[in-house]
Amino acid sequence: IKLIGLNGNLPLAEKTAEVLGFPLIKTSIKHFSDGEINININETVRGDNVYVIQSIQDPVNENLMELLIIIDALRRASAHKINVVVPYMAYARADRKTKAREPITAKLVANMIEEAGADRVIALDLHASQIQGFFDIPVDHLRAVSILAKYFLDEGVKDNVVIVSPDHSGTNMARKFAEFFDAPIAIVDQRGSHYDNAVHDIIGDVTGATAIIVDDIIDTGVRLSYSTKSLLNAGAKHVYAAATHALLSKNATDLLNTEPIEQIVVTDSIIHEDGRYPNNMVRLSVD
Ligand code: R5P
Repeated sequence: IKLIGLNGNLPLAEKTAEVLGFPLIKTSIKHFSDGEINININETVRGDNVYVIQSIQDPVNENLMELLIIIDALRRASAHKINVVVPYMAYARADRKTKAREPITAKLVANMIEEAGADRVIALDLHASQIQGFFDIPVDHLRAVSILAKYFLDEGVKDNVVIVSPDHSGTNMARKFAEFFDAPIAIVDQRGSHYDNAVHDIIGDVTGATAIIVDDIIDTGVRLSYSTKSLLNAGAKHVYAAATHALLSKNATDLLNTEPIEQIVVTDSIIHEDGRYPNNMVRLSVD
């Protein structure tokens, strides 16, 4: 087995190598001034089972291209199996046409990874489970709910808990999360567009409860922000949040710092520089 880490999440690749007890293969990745990327793998991979760890995070298109280029290089270097570990897969939210003439970019990205020569994909909390079917190669779809839920249970956040999905499409994730607490779920029901002055009602009873909002992605933080406000308006006593992927784009950090959320617990599927995280964000990582 050989392990390669790319720029999308090098710290996670390094930690994984440490846990497994063997080093990352040395690669040189050059980004030229015109934007082109060149990658050299500095040791033989002939006949090897290679695992490439790459989060397709910001800068999304560069990280995607790095991944495609290394897959191509590995294929041409006669690697036996090319396993692609994608802790965060960008474009997964574009998984269907919501209006005429829209692309389905999640399918396009799946095609590109497969066409480049990947043999297997290992992904964490794809935005929708059916994205597994966009690939014709095996996909191991891992879930973060158990480690996120364990954090709250270990911290003693388990009494009078209601698990909240911030939209209708996240109810399955909320339901799975709720099983760890034997707790009921509630849903933030939004009427109107996400970024406009939509109306948000809570389906379910959160009066006096400790609400834990569970989502797959925190991007701009807008959904988490209005969900928190709606829950407190509906009578929740405390609000916590858990999410797998902390994208934290735009001014998410400043926005979330203004919200009275006790803690926001995320995984290290995406790594930012220190200082980019909201004050109350806890990042769970591989031990
Ligand atoms: C959308 O379907 C996802 O599950 C998240 O709820 C969404 O990406 C969060 O976006 P934002 O943080 O920009 O409100």
